[in-house]
Amino acid sequence: MTQLSQSNSETFAAASLAAKSGTEVRLEGVTKDFGLAKPAVDDITLRIEPGEFMTLLGPSGSGKTTTLNLIAGFEVLTKGQVLLNGQDVGALPPHKRNLGMLFQNYALFPHMSVYDNVAYPLRERKTAKDEIQRRVGEVLELVQLVGRDKHLPKQLSGGQQQRVALARAIVFNPKVLLLDEPLGALDRNLRGALQLEIRRIHREVGSTFVFVTHDQDEAMNLSDRIALFNEGEIEQVGAPEELYARPETLFTAKFLGDSNVFHLGKVSPIDNAVAWEDERWAVDANTVSPKVASDRGSALVVRPEGVSVSKNRSEVPPDANAVKATILDIEYLGSYRTLVLALGDARLNGRARIDAQSSDFSLGEEVVAWWRPYRQRLVAE
Ligand SMILES: Nc1ncnc2c1ncn2[C@@H]1O[C@H](COP(=O)(O)OP(=O)(O)O)[C@@H](O)[C@H]1O
Ligand SMILES: [Mg+2]
Repeated sequence: MTQLSQSNSETFAAASLAAKSGTEVRLEGVTKDFGLAKPAVDDITLRIEPGEFMTLLGPSGSGKTTTLNLIAGFEVLTKGQVLLNGQDVGALPPHKRNLGMLFQNYALFPHMSVYDNVAYPLRERKTAKDEIQRRVGEVLELVQLVGRDKHLPKQLSGGQQQRVALARAIVFNPKVLLLDEPLGALDRNLRGALQLEIRRIHREVGSTFVFVTHDQDEAMNLSDRIALFNEGEIEQVGAPEELYARPETLFTAKFLGDSNVFHLGKVSPIDNAVAWEDERWAVDANTVSPKVASDRGSALVVRPEGVSVSKNRSEVPPDANAVKATILDIEYLGSYRTLVLALGDARLNGRARIDAQSSDFSLGEEVVAWWRPYRQRLVAE
């Protein structure tokens, strides 16, 4: 017995867990209609790769949780298919899908020790006692709660309780882990720390993670790819950098980060210039979203870090696009300053990020904001 537990303790958690690889999750025309004006999930098609960290991001009510519940089997599909490694699981109840789940409210059993909470899914699966001991030991190591196994949940902090819940969700080696706003109840610092932990655990266990959040920074931090939800539909799917740098629609541009937005109305996607007020701006074909169409409104967006500010037009490079602006406010943010601007005659709200050292602007000053055409995007509204 001594020898057995010794050799078990040598089995480092990560080594045995990393042997698995994740499952492909495929959604084909997935629809859930609760009889509201519009289906909560409206004809979604998405392929999540084995071992991928995919985040479903979007505002409240956009259908993220419903999508997760359809994958888990807690909701019945109105239409479409959910496939795990190619197998249609539409008819399988949740416990037969063998997925791990983690929600915002830790939902630990309050009267059970940490050990018993984590062991619970293994006992349900009639796992042998020494195997339970081994696995619980491994996952408690993975979530850095070694030595807390006899504690009751109420003796732990919120962050520690969520780690216990995470340990319980992964203890039976699920090939897919579904996480619904698991850090939503934690304060900001703790959230940052647990984001790092979740990333590390994802790398070590190799399962497919489907993570729901409405927090853009959290999504950018964690994900291999983000599926951005808008009213039950997927607006755009891509790596965080892709969504930030190459938004296809105004919704995506505005949801991820700040933008200066100029509404243009209908434009032809092949024009090499657009007009706004008295300005005429060059358009670089590489920066036109594939969703821009002449029968649909469009907007030109520029990130604050793409915008420069000069005192007058003569200082603006000839190949730049420019607009007159008034400085409304100057925000000092440590490593940089943000100028809050009123743009054009319309006095649109805008922002430019400038060097923290530059201090030669004052409130109320009339200036020129400018950017190079490659820093802008022409997106669909
Ligand atoms: N069981 C339900 N019955 C009726 N409507 C629901 C139900 N669950 C969710 N909804 C509605 O579906 C839409 C999407 O909800 P949800 O998936 O929870 O969004 P999210 O997780 O993105 O905040 C919302 O309008 C919500 O009110
Ligand atoms: Mg939700």
